[in-house]
Amino acid sequence: MGKNDAHLDDTGTELNLPRMLEQRGVSRRDFMKFCTAVSAALALPAGFAPKVAQALDEVKRPTLVWLEFQDCAGDTEALLRSANPTVAEIVLDILSVDYHETIMAAAGHQAEEALTKVVKEQKGKYIAVVEGAIPLKDGGVYCCVSGKAAVDTAREVCGGAMATLAVGTCASYGGIPAAAPNPTGAVGVKDAVPNATVVNLPGCPLNADNLTATVVHFLLFNKLPAVDSFGRPLFAYGKRIHDNCERRPHFDAGQYVEKWGDHGHQKGFCLYKMGCKGPETYHNCPTQRYNEKTSWPVASGHGCVGCSQPQFWDTMTPFYHRLPHVPGFGIEATADKIGLGIAAGTAAAFAVHGVISACRKGDTSEGAKED
Ligand code: SF4
Ligand code: F3S
Repeated sequence: MGKNDAHLDDTGTELNLPRMLEQRGVSRRDFMKFCTAVSAALALPAGFAPKVAQALDEVKRPTLVWLEFQDCAGDTEALLRSANPTVAEIVLDILSVDYHETIMAAAGHQAEEALTKVVKEQKGKYIAVVEGAIPLKDGGVYCCVSGKAAVDTAREVCGGAMATLAVGTCASYGGIPAAAPNPTGAVGVKDAVPNATVVNLPGCPLNADNLTATVVHFLLFNKLPAVDSFGRPLFAYGKRIHDNCERRPHFDAGQYVEKWGDHGHQKGFCLYKMGCKGPETYHNCPTQRYNEKTSWPVASGHGCVGCSQPQFWDTMTPFYHRLPHVPGFGIEATADKIGLGIAAGTAAAFAVHGVISACRKGDTSEGAKED
């Protein structure tokens, strides 16, 4: 963790990325595979991978601190279990992770000192990652770390960061802790620290490849990726699940699973009638997939539950009731017709969402105009 011995050579000089990867047993070939995958995730032009590799070879490692508040640690799990060959290690080696409660060796005062040191000595130069919601009710007493309310820590750490990445739906929008009746007054980072520059990477859990790609984008271009009105990078959340879903031809043909385990389920028919929220959810799950790209919820036979949308859980439950207004349902319809109906609904949702638009103020991203 951090600038420890694993990142120094015999003379105490910091190793560059290629040397570090070599030490960790990551071959150049595997590294190039990683660069190709990240380029694809960012939708960079074909042949960009060598440029990504070169830039990462030369980049000065920024410091990163990872805060955990009202969460289940699922996003940390997702990062640590991300694809072979050791993508997580590559990410951690690109960054200097100076504080992460779950995986750091230090504890107690020693750990808190590491955090204070970063905030004090690297103001405006470090990246903050936040996992979990932040409770505001009753002065924030419902989540305290080291005797300090999460909201105070978030204001101090995210307020002084170069950028904050809110990972997972809880950190992005409040998520499950914010579900009605929201007893602790839980909110996402942007609502708790309005002056911070925040990129939301929702999902339950987040897809670690999207975090990696966001960090790489930042290192390559020295700015955050373009975002939508909910503060989500367009490269990962710009397209609707329903439009990339492998079961979509069945939706268009009116072929639906009617009951778990029935003929349609065995044949891979559309899960819309079983409550799939893919028609109202924006995320790259069908293309990016999870667990080394082996699968994603719909491929495994369960509908999307809309975990990356704001106000998940309240707006997406009950999970097994079908969405009430999906154009094209039950008839042969063109993708364009269906897309038009949904796009109109989404534009309206974007228009009424005032909170995240505040994120644009002073935003360094290239996406300020792109939704
Ligand atoms: Fe895929 Fe769900 Fe859309 Fe059916 S409703 S095509 S399963 S995203
Ligand atoms: Fe979440 Fe739906 Fe993807 S449930 S992980 S947004 S398929």
